[in-house]
Amino acid sequence: MQIEEIEFEIQGVGRVLVYLNGDYLPAAEAKVSIEDRGFLFADGVYEVIRVIDGEPHLFTEHLERMERGLCALRIDFEGADQLEGIAKRLVDENELGSTDATIYIQVTRGAAPRRHSFPEPGTRPTVLVSAREYTPHPEEYYDEGVGTITVPDTRWARCDIKSIALLPNVLANQRARESGRYEALLVRDGVLLEGSLSNLFAVRDGRLITYPRSNYILAGITRGLVIELARGAGIRVEESPIYLEGLEEVDELFLTGTTTEVMPVTTVDHLTIGDGRPGPLTRRLLALYRAAL
Ligand code: PDD
Repeated sequence: MQIEEIEFEIQGVGRVLVYLNGDYLPAAEAKVSIEDRGFLFADGVYEVIRVIDGEPHLFTEHLERMERGLCALRIDFEGADQLEGIAKRLVDENELGSTDATIYIQVTRGAAPRRHSFPEPGTRPTVLVSAREYTPHPEEYYDEGVGTITVPDTRWARCDIKSIALLPNVLANQRARESGRYEALLVRDGVLLEGSLSNLFAVRDGRLITYPRSNYILAGITRGLVIELARGAGIRVEESPIYLEGLEEVDELFLTGTTTEVMPVTTVDHLTIGDGRPGPLTRRLLALYRAAL
């Protein structure tokens, strides 16, 4: 690579504008303290939000979930009402208004000398917002379905908080990738709870089944929308466990998530789901979901 090309590349990264603690600045200049509690303790929360034609999708729902997480972690953050404006400005300034994009928001308890208990009152939370182009999965995944593996759920018991502490999710997802599968399904006490970055639905005898909202799963915004769309279309939805042992009786299986959309699952470990093709209800819900976007 020529020197000018390298410089151009570095400038390219640097030109992406992000928001950090009140400033809009090139990504390459956005710096966080080594004492940030997000860095030291994973002491913070995040959100990933879809942007369609320049408009953040279901922003209020994402914000409400983030505020519930901040409240549970007792992080005092007062700037939540400004986040949508910040997100829109980043979409505009990074020229993402006419493509699909995602917004990433992360709020941590801020930077302070390392100690486990909370820092002194008045420590300002660290706020990062960035925007980037959304790269869709190949359409073939939606047409043909994807494979999954099961892994034991080694996460903590507050999976309802969208915490930046994602190591079990990272390790699970890496195992899926190394197995050539799309997603890892997390299993606790014989129950399939959700994916490493998605929620899980089964179809049985024309009914949708998904794990109830609780501390054992993240209440996905896409999950909520899909339940609403299904009920609106007269499909029965039951919030109850999907048992690993009962998977053979399941007709269809699919995942939902901001970056996953409605993804048909055709295998779990060595088991083929239904006839090994995306089922009719999954396809219908994918179509309804895309229409709702
Ligand atoms: N993850 N479950 C987990 C564990 C997740 O991390 C996510 C989303 C979901 C789906 O939630 P939603 O529909 O609100 O995106 C379920 C995001 C996309 C991520 O970590 O990148």
